[in-house]
Amino acid sequence: MASGSRSAFSFYFLSILSIFATLSSTLSTEQRHACQSPTPNPLTGCPPNTLLVDPSSASNSTTNSTNVFTTIQSAILSLPHDNSTSTILILPGLYPEQLNITRPGPLTLLSQTASPLSLSSNAVEILFRSATNTSSFDNAFTSVLTVAPTLNSSLTGSGPTGNPVPADTPLGNSNFRAYNLNFTNGFADYSAGPSLALSVSYAQTSFYGCAFKSYQDTVYIGKWGSAYMRACEVSGQTDFLYGFGTLWIEDSSLLLRSCGGGITAWKGTNTTYANKFGAYIHASAVRAANSSIAEQIVGKCALGRPWNAQHRSIFAENYLDASIIPSGYIDWSATDPRVSNWTFMAEYGDFGPGWNLTGRVEGNVTRVLNESQWEAYSSPAKVFQYFMSGEMGNVGWIDPDA
Ligand SMILES: *[C@@H]1O[C@H](CO)[C@@H](O)[C@H](O)[C@H]1NC(C)=O
Ligand SMILES: *[C@@H]1O[C@H](CO)[C@@H](O)[C@H](O)[C@H]1NC(C)=O
Ligand SMILES: *[C@@H]1O[C@H](CO)[C@@H](O)[C@H](O)[C@H]1NC(C)=O
Ligand SMILES: *[C@@H]1O[C@H](CO)[C@@H](O)[C@H](O)[C@H]1NC(C)=O
Ligand SMILES: *[C@@H]1O[C@H](CO)[C@@H](O)[C@H](O)[C@H]1NC(C)=O
Ligand SMILES: *[C@@H]1O[C@H](CO)[C@@H](O)[C@H](O)[C@H]1NC(C)=O
Ligand SMILES: *[C@@H]1O[C@H](CO)[C@@H](O)[C@H](O)[C@H]1NC(C)=O
Ligand SMILES: *[C@@H]1O[C@H](CO)[C@@H](O)[C@H](O)[C@H]1NC(C)=O
Ligand SMILES: *[C@@H]1O[C@H](CO)[C@@H](O)[C@H](O)[C@H]1NC(C)=O
Ligand SMILES: *[C@@H]1O[C@H](CO)[C@@H](O)[C@H](O)[C@H]1NC(C)=O
Ligand SMILES: *[C@@H]1O[C@H](CO)[C@@H](O)[C@H](O)[C@H]1NC(C)=O
Ligand SMILES: *[C@@H]1O[C@H](CO)[C@@H](O)[C@H](O)[C@H]1NC(C)=O
Repeated sequence: MASGSRSAFSFYFLSILSIFATLSSTLSTEQRHACQSPTPNPLTGCPPNTLLVDPSSASNSTTNSTNVFTTIQSAILSLPHDNSTSTILILPGLYPEQLNITRPGPLTLLSQTASPLSLSSNAVEILFRSATNTSSFDNAFTSVLTVAPTLNSSLTGSGPTGNPVPADTPLGNSNFRAYNLNFTNGFADYSAGPSLALSVSYAQTSFYGCAFKSYQDTVYIGKWGSAYMRACEVSGQTDFLYGFGTLWIEDSSLLLRSCGGGITAWKGTNTTYANKFGAYIHASAVRAANSSIAEQIVGKCALGRPWNAQHRSIFAENYLDASIIPSGYIDWSATDPRVSNWTFMAEYGDFGPGWNLTGRVEGNVTRVLNESQWEAYSSPAKVFQYFMSGEMGNVGWIDPDA
């Protein structure tokens, strides 16, 4: 065999292997719904070797202890630190714990539910209470769920470039998925310092029918963090989508529990390749969390503010309720505006009472994009980049059907 055809053969062989690897890492929607569906044996319909989290199993001597756990984190810690694929099914309940996923292999967390398309039917809440309301520890330690390979990679740090993550840090989880889970940081019912529900760095993660609840810095997408959310709900008051990485939210709700800072607070990064790190909120609703808070925040909440001058975020084709300030985005602060020609705080096709073109133009801080400007960002494949190379189109870890 000529070496040319041998390498072509290896190429095809490796491609086939990688297709199998990809297929084996994902559940079809039917398989997932079958696993989530309440059945007498909860694992009926689940993939082989699915782990079960059942708090009642602690007092049940007939439970198969090799695959049943009373806490979610104990199930996560039982998994090997390798590239194998795992699924964890979680029974209804309130789980007072902190989750930390460092393993690289694909991992899917599912809650048991008869209504996977209904967020309000979610019956699993993971609740932790922590905030950095003194400066004595990093925001990373407050999060309900952390997906990152190392502690260093998850640290927010300070200054315009944040924590310097060691250069040899590998990609952590390559395909983390969560369905129908609520993550709540219940430290206080007002902004009392960074209080994370989600922290993702050096990892590729996606969320379907999930809720993230806190007041300040609810969702942190750190360096090389990629997160995709669909049919989710994120609640907050201050800078509640923040970070360095790439976040795409669609068909979801952003709930304003009051106003403070902005919704998005991003830090841009200089790289040798073009990057599109930023927060993209598409085809979603931005509104007051309830009618009593709605009356108090009319025209007061900002879409975002620049954590550094290279902030990039876009709100596109969203419904905005009357809570949004006429200028849309705002400066970081009066004394430290952090706005320059690098700052990209933009909107395209937003509508509803919170959309005010006169206010946006007069405010002179929001970029109102035309269709061709939005086109450069208009789908996940145009913004999610491959780890370290920066090549676009890294979306194989997103569930296309959920
Ligand atoms: C217990 O669970 C393990 C892992 O899923 C499985 O291999 C084993 O057959 C189960 N044992 C019984 C008695 O069900
Ligand atoms: C104990 O576990 C077994 C097997 O999973 C289950 O059939 C049974 O209903 C459980 N009993 C209680 C009291 O939860
Ligand atoms: C997982 O796969 C990646 C990419 O193929 C590889 O670099 C890494 O060494 C593997 N990790 C483990 C723990 O096997
Ligand atoms: C999960 O969050 C949704 C949306 O806020 C809510 O309707 C549902 O009651 C919550 N469930 C639990 C168990 O917290
Ligand atoms: C931290 O938060 C707690 C609870 O809200 C509060 O009692 C305390 O005063 C706060 N401390 C600081 C330094 O803000
Ligand atoms: C997550 O787990 C890793 C490995 O045990 C640990 O080094 C790290 O400190 C944990 N991260 C957080 C934020 O607690
Ligand atoms: C973590 O990063 C800091 C720099 O932020 C460095 O000083 C420290 O040595 C790193 N620790 C580890 C265990 O890599
Ligand atoms: C409305 O939302 C605010 C902010 O979360 C909360 O403090 C208040 O209790 C809520 N009111 C009602 C009636 O739910
Ligand atoms: C990136 O480069 C620009 C232009 O040199 C500079 O103004 C900016 O401060 C740099 N940003 C970061 C985060 O290093
Ligand atoms: C911002 O302006 C500086 C100085 O005019 C220029 O060098 C730089 O390329 C501009 N940056 C962007 C993102 O346009
Ligand atoms: C729109 O913005 C302009 C300029 O800030 C302001 O005068 C006007 O009241 C706003 N309209 C509404 C409906 O908020
Ligand atoms: C708008 O802001 C830019 C800086 O971002 C400034 O150069 C320009 O003069 C401002 N325009 C108006 C009309 O205030």
